[in-house]
This record gives sequence, C-alpha cells and structure tokens, in this order.
Amino acid sequence: MLEEVVEKIQLSKKYKYISEKTILELVKIELPKHKSEKNLIKAVKNRLHQVYGAFLSRKDTEKISKLLSTLESGGEDIRDIAKEILRLHQSTRERLDIYEELYREIFDVTGKPSSMMDLACGLNPFSIPYMNIDRHVDYYAYDIDSTVIENVNRFLGILGYPRLASVKDVLFERIEEYSDLCLLFKFLPTAERIRKGSSSRLLKSINSRFIVVSFPLKSISGKEKGMLENYSRIFEPVMEESCKIKKKFVLGNEIFYILTGGNDG
Ligand SMILES: C[S@@+](CC[C@H](N)C(=O)[O-])C[C@H]1O[C@@H](n2cnc3c(N)ncnc32)[C@H](O)[C@@H]1O
Repeated sequence: MLEEVVEKIQLSKKYKYISEKTILELVKIELPKHKSEKNLIKAVKNRLHQVYGAFLSRKDTEKISKLLSTLESGGEDIRDIAKEILRLHQSTRERLDIYEELYREIFDVTGKPSSMMDLACGLNPFSIPYMNIDRHVDYYAYDIDSTVIENVNRFLGILGYPRLASVKDVLFERIEEYSDLCLLFKFLPTAERIRKGSSSRLLKSINSRFIVVSFPLKSISGKEKGMLENYSRIFEPVMEESCKIKKKFVLGNEIFYILTGGNDG
C-alpha cells in the first residue's frame, strides 16, 4: 500500500526526481490522518510543496546542465558561469553581493576548512569559487533533488574536487560524515514544519567542528514580518541545546549563526 502511494506520487512530473525516501516518510506521517488514498496523496503533495515547491523548474535544471557543459568544454571563466547558476534561485541570487564577505566572516572564526558539509544544499555549492580556498576540499553536499545533486557533482569534478554530493534526506537518513565546517542555510524552519523537534535532532546528529546556520529575514513575498525576532526566539534555545553560539551576524537578507560543539568528532 505505502509503495503504491509513493509510486503514484512519483508519476507526477514535479516530484519525479525527489528522493523516494522523502516521499515514503511523508506518506508515513500523513497516513494516519486520511481515510481515502486520494486525500492522502493530496496531503503528501502539499507537504512536498512546502519542502520543495518553490525550488527549481526543469527548465532551470536544463540551463544549469548546459552551462556546465560550456565549462567542461573549457574557455569560460568558472566564476562567471557559477554566478549565472547562482542567479537561478532566490536564496543564492540574494547572496551574490555578499558571498565573498560571508565566507570571509565565517573563515575568520573557523579557519579555512579541509572538509565541508552542505545540508539541503540547493544551489549553494556553486558558490565555492567565492570561498577563495586554494586547495581541494572534501565537499559533502546533500539534497533530496537528484538533478541538483547530479549537477553539483559535475561542478565538483570541474573544480577538481572529489564528487561527494549525494541524494540524502537529512531529516530521515543518517549523516555519516565528519567535517570541519557544516553549512545549514535556510533549512531549519522547513525542517520544523515537516516534524516538530526535527531541527534539534538534526543539529545533534551533525559531526562537525563548526556549524553555520542561517535564517531568512524576508519571506518569499519580500515582507519582513518580525522574522529576526521570531527565529532568534524560537531557534536560539534549540541551537544552545547541543552547541555554543560563537558569533551571530546579519548580512544581506539573512541572519547567520556560527556554532561549535554539537556532536563534534
Ligand atoms: C530553500 S532551499 C535552501 C537551499 C540552500 N541551503 C540555500 O540556502 O541556498 C531548500 C533546499 O532544501 C532541499 N530539501 C528540502 N527538504 C530536504 C531534506 N529533508 N533533506 C535534504 N534536502 C532537503 C530542497 O530540495 C531545496 O534544495
């Protein structure tokens, strides 16, 4: 029964490339609340829309793939192409003017890492050229969208890094790796919407010397609605359950927290 429902959802063009594990777990969460299969499928699709809906269209994904082919055939500047890709999603587009300063601020506290994790990464790994790190980094990038992961691995290959991106649901699958620095940008509010208590569990499960967490200060519609106060009030105690806040700062439309501790090592 569960598998059948998952298969029906996977038939939808929009969710064809989303991790099967994610769909299955959402079906399990919604199952007890619905009597008919039709309503169950509708509820799971609503949930998927919450976690994934405002992300990339297939057209954008094809564009990324073409831009990467240009890079692979040589000639183009890696930063110029990365910038075009980062422009395709609101979260990364908003950071275009701040990426360099952001990574400088972070590395001032953490030092330049040899290994990184980027959880629910979206297009953020395409900002690696803005980090100004002049050696190879083990960059573990996880997302539930297999097309994003495929393109991130191509990009890591172009940079000469190991291709360490993989499809992983960071709420429902174990994160095995250790890193010097873990990025968790704009994800905890979504995690909490999926299941209460997820953000605390996720933070406790991360094996990293430093974790940088961010929250948006504007909603997608551009309104400010006291998000700074709300997110600080709700999430600072959650972060402090397992980590120490080393530094917090506002840059662009986001608030960033640099954390230590957690499940370090
Ligand atoms: C708002 S975007 C944030 C992307 C990136 N962290 C950034 O700030 O630039 C949300 C991303 O989270 C991914 N995502 C949603 N739920 C996830 C989960 N449970 N595990 C891993 N990735 C997830 C989506 O596919 C999407 O790429």
